[in-house]
Amino acid sequence: MAKIVITGGTGLVGSYLSKMLSKNNHEVVHLSRTPDSSAEYPTFEWNIGKKYIDPNALDGADYVIHLAGAGVANKRWTKQRKKVIIDSRVESIKLLKSQIEKQQVKLKSFISASAIGYYGMDTGAAELTEESKPGNDYLAHVVKLWEAEADTLEEFTSVAKVRVGVVLAKEGGALKEIAKPVKLFAGAPLGSGDQYMSWIHIYDLCAIFRQVLENKLEGTYNATAPNPVTNEALTKSLAKALKRPLILPNVPAFVMKSMLGEMAQMVLGGNYVLSDKIQSTGFTYKFTQVDAAVKDILC
Ligand SMILES: NC(=O)c1ccc[n+]([C@@H]2O[C@H](COP(=O)([O-])OP(=O)(O)OC[C@H]3O[C@@H](n4cnc5c(N)ncnc54)[C@H](OP(=O)(O)O)[C@@H]3O)[C@@H](O)[C@H]2O)c1
Repeated sequence: MAKIVITGGTGLVGSYLSKMLSKNNHEVVHLSRTPDSSAEYPTFEWNIGKKYIDPNALDGADYVIHLAGAGVANKRWTKQRKKVIIDSRVESIKLLKSQIEKQQVKLKSFISASAIGYYGMDTGAAELTEESKPGNDYLAHVVKLWEAEADTLEEFTSVAKVRVGVVLAKEGGALKEIAKPVKLFAGAPLGSGDQYMSWIHIYDLCAIFRQVLENKLEGTYNATAPNPVTNEALTKSLAKALKRPLILPNVPAFVMKSMLGEMAQMVLGGNYVLSDKIQSTGFTYKFTQVDAAVKDILC
């Protein structure tokens, strides 16, 4: 049993992961900007802008799992929003690091979420591994800064970074958004529909975090299912699970660009990411095919 501090533990991944870890007899505590005294897990406050962490938050911690970050798809990417997206991931690590140093916390590992946006959203069907080069767009820039800051914790403990793919989950994320128009008989692939989406079922993602933690893995791991699909294939899979026809033509790229601005690269672009490295550690996926993952979540 280990004591695990999860930042952003109230979010989509954090909630699921907290349940999985506590079910497996780990002690979970959360770090949140707005701690709720009636929350399921003991929750401590931090304020990244004010460089404040509750001094008891890291007491006896064996692991920190860093999931906190302002949603990249929640608001248009203004200059100000771009800074919030970066600071919530990078300044938060700096704050954790200073507290770990101050309290001399003996962490077994610091595990940070990262994202497959690292590779850039314009890599087409090129197969990407952890060794592939980073991209040049805004998301790649965010992830490079995020991972570089996580690596500075190596001074104190071992560091692992989990490059998360497009998370499929009941409670939120991409699937919920794509399902909305499909349910209303208005679903359609976006842009060419040929762009790859390297998806992962939330169960497998959280199982990867558990694999990394319990096996003391370090370094970088892609967390994507073994069979990425195109945007068109995912939309069709959803329509099949929801028993809805797909009758409309693809949504043209210019429409997405005018709606989302620069953020449109997240849906019009994509990447084909391989996960052989985590599988070589003995990890096996529960959901390898998108149809089964979508059916499990929606039906
Ligand atoms: N979901 C995906 O498809 C996906 C894909 C790739 C990477 N990821 C990464 O995986 C991590 C977890 O994803 P998720 O889907 O669980 O995210 P989420 O549901 O948006 O939750 C993230 C948590 O971060 C905290 N947070 C939000 N804004 C913040 C800010 N400005 N400053 C500090 N903390 C803030 C919130 O916790 P409090 O309100 O309690 O503070 C929130 O619950 C994120 O870093 C995300 O970028 C996710």
